[in-house]
Amino acid sequence: MADVRTITDAETAPEAPPSPTHVTIRREDYRPPDWLVPEIHLDFVLDTESTRVRARLSVERNGDHDRPLRLAGDALTPLSVLVDGADVPWRMEGPDLVIDVAGDRAAVETEVVIHPAANTRLMGLYASGGMLCTQCEAEGFRRITFFPDRPDVLSRYRVRMEADEARFPILLTNGNPVASGRLDGGRHWAEWEDPFPKPSYLFALVAGDLKPNRDSFTTMSGRKVDLAIWVREADLPKTDHAMESLKAAMAWDERVYGREYDLDLFNIVAVSDFNMGAMENKGLNIFNSAYVLADSNTATDVDFDNIARVVAHEYFHNWSGDRVTCRDWFQLSLKEGFTVFRDQSFSADMGSAAVKRIEDVRSLRMIQFPEDSGPLAHPVRPDSYMEISNFYTATIYNKGAELIRMLHTVLGAEKFRAGTDLYFERHDGEAATCDDFVKALEDASGVDLSAFKIWYSQAGTPVVEAHVDYDAGSGTATLELEQRVAPTPGQPDKKPMPIPLRTALIGEQSGAEIASEQLILLDEPRQTVRFDGVTEAPLLSINRGFSAPVIVRAQRSPHALERLAQSDTDPFARYEAMQELAMGLLTAGARGEEVDAEPLIRAAGNTLGSNALDPAFKAEAILLPQEAVIAERMEVVDPDAIHRAREQLRTAIGRGLSAELTRAQAATAPGTDHSPLAKGTRRLRSVALNFIAGGDAAAGAHLAKAQFDTADNMTDRQGALAVLVSLEGTEREDALKAFFERFSDDPLVVDKWFALQASAQRADTVEQVEKLARHPAFTMSNPNRLRSLAGNFSMNHWAFNDASGRGYRFLADMIIAADKLNPQIAARLVPPLGRWRRFEPVRSATMREQLERIVGTSDLSRDTYEQASKSLG
Ligand code: BES
Ligand code: ZN
Repeated sequence: MADVRTITDAETAPEAPPSPTHVTIRREDYRPPDWLVPEIHLDFVLDTESTRVRARLSVERNGDHDRPLRLAGDALTPLSVLVDGADVPWRMEGPDLVIDVAGDRAAVETEVVIHPAANTRLMGLYASGGMLCTQCEAEGFRRITFFPDRPDVLSRYRVRMEADEARFPILLTNGNPVASGRLDGGRHWAEWEDPFPKPSYLFALVAGDLKPNRDSFTTMSGRKVDLAIWVREADLPKTDHAMESLKAAMAWDERVYGREYDLDLFNIVAVSDFNMGAMENKGLNIFNSAYVLADSNTATDVDFDNIARVVAHEYFHNWSGDRVTCRDWFQLSLKEGFTVFRDQSFSADMGSAAVKRIEDVRSLRMIQFPEDSGPLAHPVRPDSYMEISNFYTATIYNKGAELIRMLHTVLGAEKFRAGTDLYFERHDGEAATCDDFVKALEDASGVDLSAFKIWYSQAGTPVVEAHVDYDAGSGTATLELEQRVAPTPGQPDKKPMPIPLRTALIGEQSGAEIASEQLILLDEPRQTVRFDGVTEAPLLSINRGFSAPVIVRAQRSPHALERLAQSDTDPFARYEAMQELAMGLLTAGARGEEVDAEPLIRAAGNTLGSNALDPAFKAEAILLPQEAVIAERMEVVDPDAIHRAREQLRTAIGRGLSAELTRAQAATAPGTDHSPLAKGTRRLRSVALNFIAGGDAAAGAHLAKAQFDTADNMTDRQGALAVLVSLEGTEREDALKAFFERFSDDPLVVDKWFALQASAQRADTVEQVEKLARHPAFTMSNPNRLRSLAGNFSMNHWAFNDASGRGYRFLADMIIAADKLNPQIAARLVPPLGRWRRFEPVRSATMREQLERIVGTSDLSRDTYEQASKSLG
């Protein structure tokens, strides 16, 4: 790693001109493939340093044209090229291999040698902890062999793997094993076949010394499927939760979507170096070990929930992604938005639906809303990109999931299911588009959804103004609604969008639902809705369940919000009332106004004291909005003022409710109990601890250290340490030291140790983070480790936006250094610097300077160039 302190502003180079690799790909330029590849045979002679790859493609001209066969490559050199067994002329055009093929059909054979150990991008075939594995989505297959590496070319794969048996006793790829044997010199081989045609991005291969956790699942039609989760032997005891999650996901997809698994074998492999969370390769899912390995001593409840979610997500892709795939990468949300919606519904069914909805909305607001209002804003179905890896965004995933959820809300569960049945049936074995998906829903339901499609094409988060007038004399309430969408890059003028708003009126006196819930479709710039027979002053309960991904501005008094927080019949709306109440105080406080915290303290006290609410809901409801979310509400962001206002409120609640909080903090649950109640108890415990520490730092430190020392599980331990890291004193130092020493040989826990310190709310966090980047356990080559330090720090609003600009420089140093190793990961660190427009002039200028320094770096990757140049605007 480069010494982060030696790079100075003086070295900032002038802006680099866009190089030929910085080409923009446009959706409107889509053309069907010139050549199809119905079959491919791959032959791997595997080794860590050098692996030989022979490919035999049966190619077929697609349509009436005389264009050559173009096979995408990325840093490949052909060692031999044969067409129907004969040497033919071929040429390289940039990274691609181009061959003039005379007839309409041919067998094309190529041979290359690739270098897994030198592959620091972790795309294609690479080495991780002594094993070899692949990652091909989106365009990694072209780093393995020459191929039309685009999702609308579907092939049947037959794969032979050969390797040293002692080092690579396990050889896995997609589909089913068909033959295997031993060779001289301690080598062995295996041949597999995948009966389902698939695009190249779903290819996978794993070779290593792995051990399986085996189980089985009998499908609804009575077929037995062998399940295996492959890990290093020492990690086997940590795989049970992932296995239980897999079986639950398989049963859920049968029950809710009527979808059954289709191979006799389903394999999951855990690797410790992985760019993303996990990957849905057909029959062979490959996972970041963070989303497989868990026991209560090393993983938190959040980790357990994430594992269940990611296992389910990748499994669900077997239908929404693998059996029906995407025609081109502009359709990415077709599989990702839909599959996120599916995994969210699964998690909701496995625990508390209300709490799950709150968590999902929290992360939408924290990540997707800022994206949608910044320089990287793009539609759910983008119109262009330079590097597709940059478009695995919260907009494609989470706003895409909200879009599907709105369709589900508008159609109702039954018609929606009829629509997905038709979609799967109609497009099975095909590469489809977002339009195809909507068409299937329309055809099955008879509902015209054409107006809805604007959610795919128009970027930006709509803002809805809502206001209720009440006329007691006539007993009518009038709801005035108004919508607008701010301009986003390339889309200066916005059209009104269809916004489904689940709405009810709550009686101010009675607290009862005086106008029962209805689904209002706001699809005009302005709309008025009348409620008759309203017998008392009404309170507006709107966007219940967060039925639309919009920002609602409803002018409601603190008194009205306090009342709704206590009595709204929709749990999400109740949570929302608490958050709005807090948000009003926080934004006023950040503007330097005197605030009255009493209504919020009373509402939080009522929530904590309620017998009807479960602890997980209580924890979510009393949590204060994050500083980054408060910042979204400010005209000009002043991070210090926001931090101060939030700290003051935390202190006020900590003092005002100390008895209730102390009681909540004292409640424990056995570490191995993962019931919703046990998890909620632990969540509330640490949330309460945080408020207590806000009210009285010394008492908080003492209590936190006690929670840390006595914890029998990682949730309580990490919750305590998260409070301690922001405090002063020996408790902090002792706990950090003990934590590191105890878990120093568990990489996933060491990641937590870095992440906790990078998230600390302290004046010296920047300094600490700079120091941690020089810690012997820090490395940039492992994506989890880099994210745990740099990623968490960049989301630590107050520390990252330190007035000195040191946080920005640190992140830029990290990005520039990481770009040389792994551009995909480096580019993902850029967006926080793109918030510069929102800040006061000094911070704003420093952020721009750092973006310019990144853009001016020589040999910058296409990934990072796109993110940094677009962030400059
Ligand atoms: N298909 C993706 C994995 C992927 C993403 C591969 C980007 C290549 C580039 C996978 O299905 C996925 O979406 N994984 C998520 C987790 C999921 C629960 C949202 C991830 O990796 O973060
Ligand atoms: Zn996915």
